[in-house]
Amino acid sequence: MWLDMATILLIHGPNLNLLGAREPRHYGSKTLKDIEAEVAATAKKLGHTVTAFQSNHEGAIIDFLQKESPKAGGVIINPGALTHYSYALYDALRDTKLPAVEVHLSDISSREEWRHVSVTSPACIAQISGKKEQGYAEALQILDAHIKNV
Ligand code: DQA
Repeated sequence: MWLDMATILLIHGPNLNLLGAREPRHYGSKTLKDIEAEVAATAKKLGHTVTAFQSNHEGAIIDFLQKESPKAGGVIINPGALTHYSYALYDALRDTKLPAVEVHLSDISSREEWRHVSVTSPACIAQISGKKEQGYAEALQILDAHIKNV
């Protein structure tokens, strides 16, 4: 059973520290702290622990992935706008060799055209978009099934 328990890295990119106040129409009204607490509580029920991190800096996110991924079993990442152009983050996600799920609070496919492209999602096993904070619960289910191999 202990083999099925993992540390999940929950990562948020630029501007997502402002959740709650930032364009609630797109991103909902929960703060980042609310979301991190909800993910940690759901993960605990599934037997996992969560290490949460947010940065407005691409390099800091890559440093975090490099440092923490050897001790982790999966990644949930909302890369913010880095989604649309960061090949460095794509490489870093691949290099972790961990299952990662990309989450977007808003529906990126129905917004500006430049948001339709994700350069990071090909490094992920799934992408969830447009389900507000519910997307994180789904991401956890996907990772949990992957980790437990069901
Ligand atoms: C976002 C969508 C991105 O396009 C945007 O730059 C964000 C948030 C989302 O959660 O919907 O910062 O990732």
